[in-house]
Amino acid sequence: MFFLFGSVSWCVLSDAEEQKCLDLAGNATARNIRGTLECVRGLNTRDCMDRIKNGTADAASMFADDIYAAGLCHGLELSAGESYNAADGISYYVVAMARRSSSDLSLLEMHERSSCHPGMRTTVGWTVPIGYLVNTSQISVGEQCNFPKAVGNFFGYSCVPGVKDPQHDPRGNNPKNLCEACIGDENDRHICVNNPRERHYGEAGALRCVAENLGDVAFVKHTTLFDNMDGKNQESWALDLELEDLKLLCPDGTDANLDEYERCHLAAVPANAVVVRVEDKCRVWKFLERLQVGVDRRNISCACLCVCLCVLFSD
Ligand SMILES: *[C@@H]1O[C@H](CO)[C@@H](O)[C@H](O)[C@H]1NC(C)=O
Ligand SMILES: *[C@@H]1O[C@H](CO)[C@@H](O)[C@H](O)[C@H]1NC(C)=O
Ligand SMILES: *[C@@H]1O[C@H](CO)[C@@H](O)[C@H](O)[C@H]1NC(C)=O
Ligand SMILES: *[C@@H]1O[C@H](CO)[C@@H](O)[C@H](O)[C@H]1NC(C)=O
Repeated sequence: MFFLFGSVSWCVLSDAEEQKCLDLAGNATARNIRGTLECVRGLNTRDCMDRIKNGTADAASMFADDIYAAGLCHGLELSAGESYNAADGISYYVVAMARRSSSDLSLLEMHERSSCHPGMRTTVGWTVPIGYLVNTSQISVGEQCNFPKAVGNFFGYSCVPGVKDPQHDPRGNNPKNLCEACIGDENDRHICVNNPRERHYGEAGALRCVAENLGDVAFVKHTTLFDNMDGKNQESWALDLELEDLKLLCPDGTDANLDEYERCHLAAVPANAVVVRVEDKCRVWKFLERLQVGVDRRNISCACLCVCLCVLFSD
C-alpha cells in the first residue's frame, strides 16, 4: 500500500524552514505515516514555484502575496491554509470601502467610477479587486493581457501608486488616469510613486483617498479603518474619520456595515498557505492531514483561494 501514497517533496526557502521540514519528515517516518516527506531547497519563491510546476517539487508554503502570484501565473492551486487564528485560517479580508453618502454605488457597476488602490500589484490593491472586476465581466483584458490599460479604460480615474514605475510600465504607456486620484506629497511632488511620499499610498492612503472624496471606493483590508481610528493615526484626515461616514460594498452589489466584513468581502486571504499543482491537491492535502495529527496542533484548514487568471501579472 505504501507506494500508493508515494512521497511529497517540499520546497523550502530558509534554514529554519528546512529544519522544520526535516523534523516533520523524521516525525512522519517515526510514526509510520503512509508516504514520506522529502525536503528540497529552493533558491527563492519563484524557483519553488517553477519546481512545483515542473514536478521537481510538490509543495511549498508561501505568503499570501506570493500565493496569489502562484495561483495566477503558474496554474497552481492552494492546498490548505496554515491557520492564523486556528478558527478559520484567515489572515485578513479584502474589502471595498466607500462613503455612506455614495448611495448609488454598486460593486457590480463600477464603470467610470473612481478608485483608490494601496499599490500596484499588491494582493489587496490590485490582484483581488481586478480579479473581481474581470470575474464579474466588468472588464476584459483581451489577448494582450494588458491589465493597466483595461483598468484605466474602465475607471474614470484612480490612484494606483507605482503604476507608472518603469518596473510596472516598461513601455511607459500605462494610462495616466490611474494616477489622477493620487496627490503626491505636501509640495505636489512624487505623485503616484510606490512609497509613502505619495499620500494616497498604502492601505491608509487608499482610505484617505476615499475619506477626502477623491475616490468612490478604496480596496483595503478589513482592519485598515480600525488601524487608523481613535488617534492611532494623528494625521488630520484620520482624526476627522467618522465610522458612520463609511460602509462596505459587497460583491453581490449590495452594501453593508463596516463590521460585516465576514460576509461582505472580495477575498479572504490566509496568512500562509500551501501551494501545489492542481491535479496534486488531494494527495498533498491528505498527506498534510495525516502529518498534522500529533505533529503540530495548528489547525490546517482549507482556506482555498480560487483565483483563475494567470494573466493578471503579465504586461
Ligand atoms: C514529533 O516532533 C515533535 C517536535 O519536533 C517531538 O516532540 C515528538 O516527540 C515527535 N514525535 C515523534 C513520534 O517522533
Ligand atoms: C525544474 O525547475 C527547476 C527550477 O527552475 C530547475 O532547476 C530544474 O532543472 C527543472 N527540472 C526539470 C526536470 O525540468
Ligand atoms: C479546524 O477547523 C475546522 C474548520 O474551521 C473546525 O471545524 C475544526 O473543529 C478545527 N479543528 C480543531 C482541532 O481546531
Ligand atoms: C471568480 O469566480 C469564481 C467562480 O465564480 C470564484 O470561484 C472565484 O473565487 C472568483 N474570483 C475572484 C477573484 O473573485
